[in-house]
Formats: sequence, structure tokens, C-alpha cells
Amino acid sequence: MQLNDKKVIVTGGPTREWLDPVRYISNASSGKMGIAIADAAYTQCKELVFIHGPIDGSLVAGKPYRCIAVESTIDMLEAIKQELSPDVILIMAAAPADYKPVTKSPVKIKKSNENLTIELQRNPDILKTIAQIKKEENKFNNIVLIGFAAETTDVIAYGKTKLVEKELAMICINDVSRSDTGFGSDYNEVTVMLADGTVKELHKMTKKDVAENILKIIIHNL
Ligand code: CTP
Repeated sequence: MQLNDKKVIVTGGPTREWLDPVRYISNASSGKMGIAIADAAYTQCKELVFIHGPIDGSLVAGKPYRCIAVESTIDMLEAIKQELSPDVILIMAAAPADYKPVTKSPVKIKKSNENLTIELQRNPDILKTIAQIKKEENKFNNIVLIGFAAETTDVIAYGKTKLVEKELAMICINDVSRSDTGFGSDYNEVTVMLADGTVKELHKMTKKDVAENILKIIIHNL
């Protein structure tokens, strides 16, 4: 696949789901892997858009491509929908929150001596939602979906299940239980799995090198 006629949308970082004006649910994603992919793809594609949750602003300062900041998982989904075009490759390196509080209190929740139970409701799965749009709207038939999988156990098996269930062309599987790679680190070790079952191992290397290898796999295999 050539990238020079493609619009690449890369997502990165966590999303944030507010509980009250001062507290939120989120996760440890730094956005570094998404930025590394955006940097690597930018010079090769027609257009690059990086859609990110709350991350350290210095990581995106001065980037030569468009960066769109969002907060919640629904915000990220809406931003992606706005950017869809028939020539899109969507690379979802973000870690969107799967749940959000059923209600957001307009005032700070005060503590009491009792335990506190917070009821959470499911957020949409962004990749599954875009896969559905791809099937339902003819003009989006050729959109290419690429996912990441953050796993701590049965890493490859869970990654493969996500590849199939989210109808992806390719998935990059991370073992996030390791402290020397993954969340927050400048290094990563990734198993790439293609829809036809082909597996490629990217042994521990910088996220920049992982990103460049992922791009090469996209160009040569999709
Ligand atoms: N993802 C998504 N929408 C969500 C959550 C995740 O599109 N609401 C995407 C991520 O960006 C990633 C892939 O789905 O590309 C897998 O995300 P991951 O967090 O590993 O898995 P989940 O699908 O959230 O499943 P689980 O948390 O049960 O492992």
C-alpha cells in the first residue's frame, strides 16, 4: 500500500471521564507511541491528523501536522468521525476509557465515613463504531483500521481476539505488564499481527523505531 495518496489519522494518549469538577477516570497512556507513529507517517502520507487525549503539551508542541486535543472517549470518536474520508487509514494507538461515570456531579463530591460506590457505564468502542460505519457507508468501504492491544496476560490470544472482533487489518500487541517498555516508556516491544494471521515480532527498541517498523509493515503488507 502506498501512503502518499492516504489521509492518516493517528490517535494517542488516554481519554478522561469526569466524575465531578475535580476528579476523573483515566489511564497511564502517555501518548508517546501515537506521536512516534504520527511523526513516522507524516512525511510519507498525503495528510496527517493526530487526535489525542490529555497528554503533556510539550510532546505535541511545534509538530508540523494538525493535532486535535479531546477529553472523553465520545469526544475522540466524534473527532475521528469529523475527519473521516474515503482514503483514511486510522491507527488507534490511544487508550480510550472504556467506562464513564453514569453521572457527573456538578459540585465536588464530599467524603463521608461510608464506602463510596461509583456506577460506570460503557463508552462506545471507537474501532468497532468506525468498522460499522465502514460497512454501512459505501464511500468508506476502503478505510483501513489498525489497532493496538494493551495486555497483561495471555497477550497474543487477547490481541488476536481484538484483531477479529474489531475487524482490523492489523494489530500491534503490547505487553503492558512490563515496566521497561509500554506505558510512559520511550521503549516498546510489539507483536504485530495481520488479518491473515501473519505475525511479526518487533523486539525491544525505541518507540520511534517501533513506529518506523510498523509503517514499513503497513506499506509492504496491507
Ligand atoms: N479502543 C477503541 N475504543 C475503546 C477502547 C479501545 O477503539 N473504547 C481501541 C484502542 O485504541 C486499541 C484497541 O481498541 O487500538 C484495543 O484497546 P485495548 O485497551 O487494548 O482493549 P479494549 O478493546 O479496551 O479491551 P479490554 O480493555 O477488555 O482489554
